[in-house]
Amino acid sequence: MSKGLFITFEGPDGSGKTTQIQELKKYLEKSGFNAIITREPGGTPIGEKIRQIILDKNNQEMDYVTEALLYAASRAQHVSQVIKPALEQGRMVICDRFMDSSIVYQGYGRKLGDSVRIMNEIAVRDCLPDVTFLLKLNPGIGKARIEEGEQDRLELEKMEYHNEVYRGYIELSKQYPERIICIDAGRSIEEIRIEICKHMDSLLVSNSKR
Ligand code: TYD
Repeated sequence: MSKGLFITFEGPDGSGKTTQIQELKKYLEKSGFNAIITREPGGTPIGEKIRQIILDKNNQEMDYVTEALLYAASRAQHVSQVIKPALEQGRMVICDRFMDSSIVYQGYGRKLGDSVRIMNEIAVRDCLPDVTFLLKLNPGIGKARIEEGEQDRLELEKMEYHNEVYRGYIELSKQYPERIICIDAGRSIEEIRIEICKHMDSLLVSNSKR
């Protein structure tokens, strides 16, 4: 049996990842694949507990290194308990945020730099995404979209932080042009969905030849 594909979605808060992830799952299932959706931080019982600690608005005193290590810890559990086993069973894994989020939110946003990549390499071992859809949306627009609902500790950060995160995403996409597919998220849900499905089709063809 061939290994499943590991697909991640990235982008600023409010870029519409959740909707597109659900659309992609439907598309993959219609094409005959078994697909699961999972998310970070979280995705496992231990990871969901870590998520509550990280996103709690009362934890204002959290040190940035603590924050980065908690994300990495949640990810290590997620990889070993959910992602790797599913891929080995030949399933498609669609993950809402992964290691790139830590590199941009903690590495760029919190200015922890390359140490974030190093701690995450320990967490994920060799389990890296086959493809990453980066939903590009001006962080100001994304922030305005989420301001209508209740915001968590990270979402409450200042605009300057979100701009730095976005800059990180752009740099990462230049560093890994083969893996990271940039999608203009300022368009309609349907236009974005069609573009993602087109990319997915060509990936499925090359995966079937692996
Ligand atoms: P989440 O509540 O899932 O929001 P969204 O729907 O925008 O993805 O994400 C939680 C927050 O955690 C979000 O602001 C991004 C941030 N985050 C990091 O800072 N580092 C990470 O490694 C991950 C996975 C998320």
